[in-house]
Amino acid sequence: MTITTITVCETCKRDDWQAGTALTDGERLAALVEAAAEDRPLVRVRRHACLMGCKGACNVAVQGKGKMAYTLGRFDADPDAAAGIVAYAALHAEQDTGVVPFREWPQAIKGHFVTRHPPLPADD
Ligand code: FES
Repeated sequence: MTITTITVCETCKRDDWQAGTALTDGERLAALVEAAAEDRPLVRVRRHACLMGCKGACNVAVQGKGKMAYTLGRFDADPDAAAGIVAYAALHAEQDTGVVPFREWPQAIKGHFVTRHPPLPADD
């Protein structure tokens, strides 16, 4: 088991975001993900501006050293999405390869995968 990091795009705005709203949808999702991860010792959360998937907001990345990395998108900024993202990240942390069997995927992340990135070789 190794640490898995969730990177939440803090600048994501969904199509229905209203100008003048205090927080972006990404900031709201980030706060929910941070709260959901508080009791998950193998899951870290960080925020980053724009993951370049703006049309599919809200976006997150799930990464761990030497493991398959994923981007997921089209999330609402709500507690169900945040709980599913964190539960998936915890499963990712438990897997040596980062590949979580489909049967274990939380319902909230199904249909939200955008890309995956194989790890670089260890000597690169
Ligand atoms: S603003 Fe979130 S991916 Fe671009």
